[in-house]
Amino acid sequence: MIISTGFAQGLNLVLHALAREGAVTCVAFEDPGYGSAQVDETVRAVLAMGIDVAYVPVDEQGLVVSELAASGAQAVVVTPAHQSPTGVVLSPARRHALTDWARRIGGYVIEDDYDSEFRYDKEPVGALQGLAPDRVFLLGTASKALAPAVRLGWVHAPAPLASAVAAEKEMSDRGSCMLDQLALATLLTTGRYDRHLRRMRTVYAARRTALTDAFARHVPRTQLSGLAAGFHAVAPLPPGSDEAAVIAAARDRRVGLHGIGDYRGNPSTAAPPALVMGFGNVRERTIEPAIAAVADLLS
Ligand SMILES: Cc1ncc(COP(=O)(O)O)c(C=O)c1O
Repeated sequence: MIISTGFAQGLNLVLHALAREGAVTCVAFEDPGYGSAQVDETVRAVLAMGIDVAYVPVDEQGLVVSELAASGAQAVVVTPAHQSPTGVVLSPARRHALTDWARRIGGYVIEDDYDSEFRYDKEPVGALQGLAPDRVFLLGTASKALAPAVRLGWVHAPAPLASAVAAEKEMSDRGSCMLDQLALATLLTTGRYDRHLRRMRTVYAARRTALTDAFARHVPRTQLSGLAAGFHAVAPLPPGSDEAAVIAAARDRRVGLHGIGDYRGNPSTAAPPALVMGFGNVRERTIEPAIAAVADLLS
């Protein structure tokens, strides 16, 4: 396991290691997905490493593995626990198809496990890495459980590639701050990390309920999705809506919204308009008035 300064650095290290080993010439990202927006720094950095980028669609079961196989990529970055941004949990059939794909072509899965600690209705889903530790890089982060400002993450690498990732870390910054790691280790070994997670799950669950209640009251015809885990939901807009216009009009009413368009990789995929509604960093009591203020725009 290599300690990083968060998922962002972990991904960078893994991609550099794979490129240096000559293991990949093309890496795929979920579409819509984190890192797939055309302007995204990650994609630019990947292209600068001489690695091509492919975009693979996501449906109601998660990443469409048949499209991944057709893309020619040898590595893929996925968010199986809670797809970013659709919120879909990668189905068991797709998990097996994905690890079968990696074994078949000698490819790699880069698992972004950013939201797995926060699952509300069921037990947390297991990491994909458990199904194929020789093919899956598991990247974890303290950004969601503690705070993005902590800048601590970890990379579980397939054993033959661990030293290549460690070498990239060494070259990049020689190592993450030891005091921060000791503090995190103390939180883990004393059980305080788990207690914090249990407490925060209750706080986020209350915000999640405030959001679903506000929609039921003010925008009753809209079905929110992606709420099984994490801190955001997706609200579809009526067909033909202008996402950007809705966001601008909401901003005039002092409500900050994000469109799913920001997460689209392939500009020619005309995915339906939708909003990504985050509740990780808003107070519970502000949710209902905010949705009430923009209800006419959403419906
Ligand atoms: C999809 C996704 N993965 C990972 C992260 C965490 O990144 P980092 O650990 O670099 O803060 C985020 C944070 O917003 C995210 O949205």
